Amino acid sequence: MILVTGGAGFIGANFVLDWLAHSGEPVVNLDKLTYAGNLHNLASLQGDARHVFVQGDIADRALVERLLAEHRPRAIVNFAAESHVDRSIHGPEDFIQTNVVGTFRLLEAARHYWQALDATEKGAFRFLHVSTDEVYGTLAPDAPAFTEEHQIEPNSPYSASKAASDHLVRAWHHTYGLPVLTTNCSNNYGPLHFPEKLIPLMIVNALAGKSLPVYGDGMQIRDWLYVKDHCSAIRRVLEAGRLGETYNIGGWNEKPNIEIVHTVCALLDELRPRADGQSYKAQITYVKDRPGHDRRYAIDARKIERELAWRPAETFETGIRKTVQWYLDHPAWVAQVQSGAYRDWVAKQYEGAAV
Ligand SMILES: NC(=O)c1ccc[n+]([C@@H]2O[C@H](COP(=O)([O-])OP(=O)(O)OC[C@H]3O[C@@H](n4cnc5c(N)ncnc54)[C@H](O)[C@@H]3O)[C@@H](O)[C@H]2O)c1
Repeated sequence: MILVTGGAGFIGANFVLDWLAHSGEPVVNLDKLTYAGNLHNLASLQGDARHVFVQGDIADRALVERLLAEHRPRAIVNFAAESHVDRSIHGPEDFIQTNVVGTFRLLEAARHYWQALDATEKGAFRFLHVSTDEVYGTLAPDAPAFTEEHQIEPNSPYSASKAASDHLVRAWHHTYGLPVLTTNCSNNYGPLHFPEKLIPLMIVNALAGKSLPVYGDGMQIRDWLYVKDHCSAIRRVLEAGRLGETYNIGGWNEKPNIEIVHTVCALLDELRPRADGQSYKAQITYVKDRPGHDRRYAIDARKIERELAWRPAETFETGIRKTVQWYLDHPAWVAQVQSGAYRDWVAKQYEGAAV
């Protein structure tokens, strides 16, 4: 079995669902259930013996050691993180605690567990750390996309904390020989995305008749990847990645934020037109830019394509259509997340205990 951390969040939950659908290998899912963790994402797994959920913190070394000893996973996939740049600007401390201290404690627990394995298990063990393209900083409009050799130049408390965790993972390989893999992925979008992030926020605000707030001039460029493609890339790196290596993961979809918002509006105009016949674009408002907002990220994903023969299955056009449709089809999920009712649901279903 494998240990997944942060598996109740956006990407982690998609990963757990896809993992069980693809391989059937059991998963122990350790998640603190912060505001971003939503067990409702995993409701379809209730009663499925292949999924063991444990509410807890990656920084709780005793708990992690107990889970490793009890379940003896062949790999750890670390998604657990504080992940929202705006929140990191308003309150950086949680980011340092989980992304830096938490990753450190998880690495230490993993190292002690791994060192005590027999030779075969030791050789097969992997620690895969999921990170972001934001660690590379920002790019000039005409600069080449980030390769794995690009200098690390994080600009926000979020990206600095992720860069710090990437460095710790690297050092645990070089110093102790821990068999690690790191992935740095571009912006994800898709089902189960918490509606504080750009794409789901635009969809749910548009449908609720609210304004669609766009930072600054809306010309911040991001590279977008459908979340299921990120999950397939992680599975591939876990299976065949070279130890100690970093793999950039991206969708070759560089787009300015305003274009994303226009695309979402156009899809909603087609799939759920406004009653007054106007376009949802009428709801766009420009708001003061985020401090230190990076202008451009772009991922050069040639290494993972060349070495591991991975390619995304979705284009931006197919992925964004699926995403908008998913939100239209899941109003109850959106309502629960927005009202906070998913927390009551969790409390009722699980009473905060390990299940
Ligand atoms: N969202 C993106 O576009 C993107 C892109 C590249 C990389 N990443 C990375 O992927 C990972 C997952 O991102 P996401 O968007 O799913 O984030 P998310 O915020 O939706 O989910 C994070 C999950 O981690 C859990 N968590 C937080 N602190 C924890 C702790 N101390 N111990 C255990 N669990 C804890 C939360 O409860 C939540 O379920 C993060 O490491 C992030 O840096 C995200």
